[in-house]
Amino acid sequence: MYLVWIHLITWIVLLIVTILALFSKSKKTSLIAMMIARVCYLFAIVTGVLLISHAFPNHPLLTIIKVILGLSLIAIIEIAFANKNRMKLTPGLAWLVILFILIVGGFGLYLTSGFPLSLYF
Ligand code: HEM
Repeated sequence: MYLVWIHLITWIVLLIVTILALFSKSKKTSLIAMMIARVCYLFAIVTGVLLISHAFPNHPLLTIIKVILGLSLIAIIEIAFANKNRMKLTPGLAWLVILFILIVGGFGLYLTSGFPLSLYF
């Protein structure tokens, strides 16, 4: 139960720090945000792996797609960070990354049927 919460909070923190990292004009803010994003990956991977056994029996295919989406998200965020550090980040890629974060989170919530947010809404 707490794993779902950690995974969810990681998603929200990752969304905020990625926006800061990609759109901030300050190099320092951007670098600190990138560091926090990398800590978020660790939390997302560890809690994600532990959640697989819970999700797989009910939705095997969707769970596999979720894992692939989660790992691809980390890859695309890192590509955007590398481009930003080389001053080659285009607004198109930056917005694509934000959209992808929302899609992966949305897909995850679909997989859990909205849990844990469904407890409140
Ligand atoms: C940074 C990348 C990731 C983000 C933003 C993300 C986001 C989410 C979100 C928002 C959910 C909905 C459930 C919840 O709120 O906890 C979810 C579910 C899930 N995620 Fe991720 N995730 C990521 C990476 C991963 C990875 C790497 C794995 C596996 C190795 C994974 C496995 C899962 C599984 C199995 C569920 C369904 C849990 C269940 O049915 O109880 N995720 N994810």
